[in-house]
Amino acid sequence: MRRFSAEYLDRTREGMWDDRTALAPLRLASRDSVLDVGCGTGELAAALREETDARIVGADRDADLLAHLPRAVPGVRADAYQLPFPDDSFDIVVCQALLINLPDPERALGEFARVASESVAAVEPDNGAVTVESTVASESRLAGEARDRYIAGVDTDVTLGNRLVDLFEEAGFANVETARRDQTQTVEPPYSEVDLEAVGRKARGDAIRTQRGDLAGDADALDRLRAAWREMGRTALEQTQAGEYERRETIPFHVAVGDV
Ligand SMILES: C[S@@+](CC[C@H](N)C(=O)[O-])C[C@H]1O[C@@H](n2cnc3c(N)ncnc32)[C@H](O)[C@@H]1O
Repeated sequence: MRRFSAEYLDRTREGMWDDRTALAPLRLASRDSVLDVGCGTGELAAALREETDARIVGADRDADLLAHLPRAVPGVRADAYQLPFPDDSFDIVVCQALLINLPDPERALGEFARVASESVAAVEPDNGAVTVESTVASESRLAGEARDRYIAGVDTDVTLGNRLVDLFEEAGFANVETARRDQTQTVEPPYSEVDLEAVGRKARGDAIRTQRGDLAGDADALDRLRAAWREMGRTALEQTQAGEYERRETIPFHVAVGDV
């Protein structure tokens, strides 16, 4: 079971919903109740809370993450495949970056359709289409290699964002509408504490070490990747100390909304 820390979700969702244009297909103004499944610390729920007066409930199987939900969003410990709510309990059931973590996303969508009286929405990344630009020449290539090995090594489809519409149509939802939100995260001077920590992690090769079990490839290939990653990280650290390091990562998130 893949687990996420509150700190990781806080860091990776930064700026995600500064622009909420892609939430328009959710038609929030017409909803009285919203369930956010796999809500984590409530990064999406917090944005929804600012957009609507509807009742919003968060559901996640991880009680530690639920403890970080905004005060105005009650949390329920629950499994996405078996939600503890009767049929038609919420106008709309939503999720963000949940389906890419599920071995059976179709089953979860079926459960969402049972609990939703009007619509189901999902916001999911396509991790196969992430781009990285960096002042360290090797960073984009190494990030691409690590990403490819991760996509091939994990047991769920972490590129699922690119087939979200098909998934919704195959699940039987009507009037499927889509939108896209490209989340861009930049590192540039003046560096924040979070930026400095991220560069330190790069120089230690932490990402490759902690995700090793999820990366495709034999031990030698992964050792080589980690060594090259650390070298790249040390260059990033030197550039950071000189105030010259810059990095820009763009993650495409696809939004799909369908009526039950
Ligand atoms: C990548 S995080 C996304 C969290 C949040 N939606 C966001 O975008 O910041 C995936 C979340 O799904 C939850 N999760 C994974 N499998 C689940 C399941 N079967 N039932 C309920 N929650 C699940 C995890 O605990 C985690 O909070």
